[in-house]
Amino acid sequence: MTVDVYALHAQVSAWLRASRKNILKLMAEPLYVATKSNRNDLVTNVDKQNQVFLTNQIKAAYPEAHIEGEEGTADKIDRLDGLVFFVDPIDGTMNFVKQQAHFAVMIGVYQDGKPVYGALMNVMRNEIIAGGPALPARLNDALLPAVPDLDLADGLLGVNGPMHAKNRLHVGDIAMASSGARMSGSAGMEFMEIALGHQIGYISYLKPWDVAPGMAIVSGMGVVVTRPDGQAIDLLQPGLVVAATPKAHAEILKQMQAD
Ligand code: IPD
Ligand code: CA
Ligand code: CA
Repeated sequence: MTVDVYALHAQVSAWLRASRKNILKLMAEPLYVATKSNRNDLVTNVDKQNQVFLTNQIKAAYPEAHIEGEEGTADKIDRLDGLVFFVDPIDGTMNFVKQQAHFAVMIGVYQDGKPVYGALMNVMRNEIIAGGPALPARLNDALLPAVPDLDLADGLLGVNGPMHAKNRLHVGDIAMASSGARMSGSAGMEFMEIALGHQIGYISYLKPWDVAPGMAIVSGMGVVVTRPDGQAIDLLQPGLVVAATPKAHAEILKQMQAD
């Protein structure tokens, strides 16, 4: 089956706008917050409701698709055959709870393991960045230029907090070699900054739904996304992700692989 990526973009954009409306409405009501794997791994009633909403929309429009969603209403996939939607109903839940800002809703679409489309919505700014191999990247309706291939020394680098603090795989040193480290608390925000040319890259440990949407967008813009050993991202597994401009990516991998 060939996906009409322009039709898909229109549908996903409508779902994200509807998600936003519902999230803003729920933000005016009491929030129910629970912890998952640890005290900083949160889920709220809003994450759960938006997961159900997006899962239902995808199932109605693409009944043959498999859905990998963070909050559990979707299938647990064990293969990437066919059409797969990766859904993060609120990315940056800690920011959502503590700041009521700097969080995203994210959808990534892959076919037989290959990227088709990604969309990231910054809810509070009402901005959608979307794109893919056959859909030029855009911020709302405005096309985005290719990401300039800057060196590590010439741009800001998004980093995972603990990796930076503990200099794991030299991430602290790598950040020192950039124009400066940034930590946004949302993988979606990090990929948005890369797509906008505001950051040269991002290094973190991510689950499939954290990386799939952004990777589908930025890999069509000249950005390289791999594991620290240079392997392709396996969207069936969580793992370390290095997304960066080609020059910065080469420098980052060299430093990560050093003794
Ligand atoms: C988290 C955020 C965070 C990243 C974590 C993710 P969530 O997503 O993207 O920036 O460091 O690894 O789990 O749990 O808020 O959807
Ligand atoms: Ca989430
Ligand atoms: Ca997430």
